[in-house]
Amino acid sequence: MTTAADYSEKIPNNVDLHEDRRLQRALESWQPNFLNWWESMGPTLPTQDVYLRTAMNVGRDGWAHFGHVAMRDYRWGIFLAERDPGRQIGFGQHIGEPAWQQVPGEYRSELRRLIVIQGDTEPASVEQQRNLGATAPSLYDLRNLFQVNVEEGRHLWAMVYLLHAYFGRDGREEAEELLHRNSGSADAPRILGAFNEETPDWLSFFMFTYFTDRDGKYQLGTLKESAFDPLSRTCEFMLKEEAHHMMVGTTGVDRVVERTAQLMVEKETDDAGPHGAVPLTVIQKYLNFHYSVSLDLFGGETSTNVANYYTAGLKGRWMEPRRKDDHKLGDDAIMVDAMVEAEPGTQSIGQIEVSALTGLNTDLRREYIEDCQSGVKRWNKILADAGLPHRLKLPHIAFNRKVGAFAGIEATPDGELLTAQEWQRRSSAWLPTDVDKTHVRSLMQPVHERGKIAAWIAPPRQGINGKPFDYEYVHLA
Ligand SMILES: [Fe+2]
Ligand SMILES: [Fe+2]
Repeated sequence: MTTAADYSEKIPNNVDLHEDRRLQRALESWQPNFLNWWESMGPTLPTQDVYLRTAMNVGRDGWAHFGHVAMRDYRWGIFLAERDPGRQIGFGQHIGEPAWQQVPGEYRSELRRLIVIQGDTEPASVEQQRNLGATAPSLYDLRNLFQVNVEEGRHLWAMVYLLHAYFGRDGREEAEELLHRNSGSADAPRILGAFNEETPDWLSFFMFTYFTDRDGKYQLGTLKESAFDPLSRTCEFMLKEEAHHMMVGTTGVDRVVERTAQLMVEKETDDAGPHGAVPLTVIQKYLNFHYSVSLDLFGGETSTNVANYYTAGLKGRWMEPRRKDDHKLGDDAIMVDAMVEAEPGTQSIGQIEVSALTGLNTDLRREYIEDCQSGVKRWNKILADAGLPHRLKLPHIAFNRKVGAFAGIEATPDGELLTAQEWQRRSSAWLPTDVDKTHVRSLMQPVHERGKIAAWIAPPRQGINGKPFDYEYVHLA
């Protein structure tokens, strides 16, 4: 069965909102607060309208509609993937039982916590990206930025719906808090570290959508397996939208690398900086930064909380149905990264064996790292195709970590241990410095003219929804 959204309602949805007056009223009273938040914390560049995709439907034959809309009138709706009435729990102690349509009392606070943590990241990225419109390299890129922003806004709606519909009064309070916390705020910051970092320029934006949005993809992938069916269906639908965010990041970095490589060849130099592009060394530093802060988002190498979530059925593994084991993991083990004492008195980077359940964060982080590797491979192919010997790479897992086994140590991108003093002295070679950031920002002169593109980035290979690059994607105010 395919349920089309009712667009005559204030809040477009495919969850039969009109049948639950209480819930409808709760969401209708949250809606103006959301719009206030969007106006005060959302995109700052004034626009008339933007060529945007709006989710309409969850069916196979087209789920979205494209058209020019004023962003404030964007129809942020509530969409769950189609329900499978026979769905069974796929892992943990309740494996084989019917999926839950309501929240079991004993898991209420854990489920609420998982939803709040996911929900908090969605508006955070909109806040982080709010000023980027002013320096967009093209109307195509500007449109993609706004597409990501409105969809992250919709993802906030998705989580707020779950809080309002299934968690009563505490859910409503949490929904308010999601609008009160702000990225980088001293008093009420966002919950996770990477979402309090700045996204001050477009290279950061592309790295963020590649590495940090990709963390989101993996988190949603584990929640999609949840025994709590409404959460599972919500995340499944969000993943459709995330695919576009991944594309923006992947091809964004592609195009920066392509332009840099082009100038390196043309000017016969290792440093494209003076020629109006981002130097390859700076691209590597941005990559190092965004990758390492995104690794932190997966939490410690071992976690008893996550083991309990899994056993309870709240949060599964990436691609759980494809795993060839008992989906309970009671007797299994996994090697996780750790600081080990190879010789008495000296710590070194190594691995230890722990139960597979407590090592689930490591399992998910490894899936993510493998996926990140595919981006680096693409970017290196661009360099190789240009005839350049230079290569980008992912830094070592212990590099620049603030969470987990390597939080207390310093290591080079090659995984060599450093003292704190050595780190102080050398880290400017691996992480963006103020000089690097200022240079990157100086390149980012806005190009808001139809069909034109900034000098530091190559044009995209394709437009959006079959439209050409020089399409009028955005009408500025
Ligand atoms: Fe999202
Ligand atoms: Fe996203």
